[in-house]
Amino acid sequence: MAFPTETVYGLGANALNPLAVARIFEIKNRPFFDPLIMHIARHDEVRKLVISVPLDADRLMERCWPGPLTIVLPKTEIIPDIVTAGLTTVAIRMPRHPMALRLIQEAACPVAAPSANPFGYVSPTAAQHVRDQLGNKIDMILDGGPCEVGLESTILSFCGDRPKLLRPGGLPLEEIESIIGRGRVELNPAKEAAPSSPGRLPRHYAPRIPIVVGEWGKNLEAYQNKRIGLLAFRKVNTPFSFCHVEVLSPRGDLQEAAVNLFAAIRRLDALDLEVILAEAVPEMGLGRAIMDRLRRASKKPKE
Ligand code: TXA
Ligand code: MG
Repeated sequence: MAFPTETVYGLGANALNPLAVARIFEIKNRPFFDPLIMHIARHDEVRKLVISVPLDADRLMERCWPGPLTIVLPKTEIIPDIVTAGLTTVAIRMPRHPMALRLIQEAACPVAAPSANPFGYVSPTAAQHVRDQLGNKIDMILDGGPCEVGLESTILSFCGDRPKLLRPGGLPLEEIESIIGRGRVELNPAKEAAPSSPGRLPRHYAPRIPIVVGEWGKNLEAYQNKRIGLLAFRKVNTPFSFCHVEVLSPRGDLQEAAVNLFAAIRRLDALDLEVILAEAVPEMGLGRAIMDRLRRASKKPKE
């Protein structure tokens, strides 16, 4: 079943039932090497799922859950291999959307859920996005309205000597550092041989139409004769007539931009355009995650 979370819509199944979890991979066309996040509804559920919880991880769970933070820790035996793609670690988060929490409570089991989109495409931030792409393949979509955050959770691993940021996301790094200390988090951890987080694959979250990120004014010249869509951060004032313009936040607010990002990309991707020029946003707060998604969406298939 697809369900709303505060970040993006998820496609959930009983995390302790390997057959149910296998359906998720089938429906999303997701490679089995890509592990899923387990969603829980109560703090004490973590204890059954992981071997131990370091102090900093514990403090973050206490302060940031329910919320857009996923924590990776060494897993216990009860978690099926299909959930973690055979890794010895598991990713866990407690979402804060009331419908998600209710669903997990009623299910009385941890819920494994990736974003409810075909593998590699932009995550859904409204029930209609899920219906458009997976509607004929899934049993039910819980409609909880548009997502409040709009970007996937921040993923932090506590499996090495230092916490590692595996994916910037809906919880800004600044907030994490205000709890566990500045400079504590390793920001660009070296890539492992196996992609432990395909959200880190160079090309991910990608639309059909090529995206070019940067100062759009500079990129304009190269695409003059093409059908161009503009994905602007703030209000634009230009004589150039784009085929379509999406403004993420007229007043330049990163939170508002995050909420609108994926829906705007979807609208542009549905048009007959040849290229999408995306305006860079400041890399602070949620801007870090927005730029991460824009860069990954802009990689060419073979890059
Ligand atoms: O906000 C979110 O996190 C949403 C909502 C539905 O909760 N979920 C989401 O799931 O974005 P997904 O599957 O699209 O992205 C989860 C990422 C994947 O890139 C996966 O590789 C990584 O989490 N991941 C899962 N388990 C992991 C593990 N044990 N170690 C490292 N990365 C892991
Ligand atoms: Mg995803």
